[in-house]
Amino acid sequence: MRQVQGPMEDFKALLQSWWPVRGLRNIFCTYLCLPAPPVLETSDMGDIERGCDGESPGCVTWSAQASPGNSSGTSVEPPNGFVSPALSLITLDDEISQALTFDLYGRALNVKSRVYMLPADDAEFARQDRLHDLIEELGSADCEDELEEALRETPGVQKAVLDIGHGSGRWMLDVALKYSHVDVVGIDLVPPPVTCKDGRCPSIGLHYIHPTCRHMPSNCRTEVDDVNSEMHHFENSFNVVHARFVAAGITDYRRLIDTMTRMLLPGGVIDIMEAELVIYDAKMRPIPTSRSALARWLTLVVTVIRQLGGEPDAAAHLAEWVALHEDYEQVAVHEWWVQTSPWSLGRDMESQRRNAHGIGMRDNLLALLFSARPMLLHAGVSELLLAFMEGEARAELLAAEKPSYIRLLRAQACKVTL
Ligand SMILES: C[S@@+](CC[C@H](N)C(=O)[O-])C[C@H]1O[C@@H](n2cnc3c(N)ncnc32)[C@H](O)[C@@H]1O
Repeated sequence: MRQVQGPMEDFKALLQSWWPVRGLRNIFCTYLCLPAPPVLETSDMGDIERGCDGESPGCVTWSAQASPGNSSGTSVEPPNGFVSPALSLITLDDEISQALTFDLYGRALNVKSRVYMLPADDAEFARQDRLHDLIEELGSADCEDELEEALRETPGVQKAVLDIGHGSGRWMLDVALKYSHVDVVGIDLVPPPVTCKDGRCPSIGLHYIHPTCRHMPSNCRTEVDDVNSEMHHFENSFNVVHARFVAAGITDYRRLIDTMTRMLLPGGVIDIMEAELVIYDAKMRPIPTSRSALARWLTLVVTVIRQLGGEPDAAAHLAEWVALHEDYEQVAVHEWWVQTSPWSLGRDMESQRRNAHGIGMRDNLLALLFSARPMLLHAGVSELLLAFMEGEARAELLAAEKPSYIRLLRAQACKVTL
């Protein structure tokens, strides 16, 4: 089990550089010097991590119609020590779902990874759903021609898609409904929240998930596993491999791209999207932490994610990593500059549209303030300091006075055919 080492020297230096009130600065810096946070014991984390007895393995597969034939193999233990024991196929019930999470500061977190420490609960799934909707509104669907092509129905050929880090499952489920001839597999540290298990739901017949349900189509199944492990059982299996907003849980993103490449069939499409955890001004320059409470809080988040072993800076490198990869051709990179709040004063249609996106991103960030709490508290940030920083960041978001943006990046490419 990984232990998070406190205190956070980088962040203290940052605080010391901007804190305007000397007395307050000293008080809060003292709070940062709290002893190392509690080490999570495996006993806090439910049965799955404790006893892999074959009946309750760490790697769990769930499908709408569970059938052992669905599973093709297992992940194995790589040299870095992440253990992913033999896969078995089980039907996921509430008890097993609960055993895959544990409580940390009132939120449910996955038991499998101490790198990824955002919650896996209804509030976080709702945040992911809303962010998915925002991405659709940004026009992300317009860059899915490559996916359409790769998934086109071809007589005698069973097409397949893998979604890495499916989270609430919106992308994966939308794809499964839209391409009913395609096998869709999701992988995550926790199973997706699924309702309508009996299939009676308002999404049937639609090409999207109806807001009142989360239906698991029969062409979709998921596995619980850590993609930082080796994933040999998925090699050479998919026409599309997708990953979105997973960087916080990835120890080596370039290695993930290599893993995804091996999972793809020749001619298959890699599709990755990440958000830069940086706040930009109207001239697209990073806003210094001395000038934005949101930037200060986000810098704290980045510091802790890095400390836990994730890759919070991956977004900025996606294009380069895919473009320079020898196994890819037809590389396409898309970027979106999204307002962090509805600050635009323009009355024209475009300003209104950008403000609507700003509302979506603001609400996402407000929810993220709440979701990142357990991770930050666990890393040793004091409640008092965190409440102060969150309050400042929330006020800045709600005031919507400063022009500021977050950048989203998406890279797609085709794996070369031999
Ligand atoms: C921020 S959510 C994004 C969910 C979804 N991809 C979306 O765009 O809405 C990140 C998801 O990636 C999963 N994840 C992070 N690191 C992972 C890892 N090493 N292996 C498997 N899943 C991981 C998390 O459990 C979480 O569900």
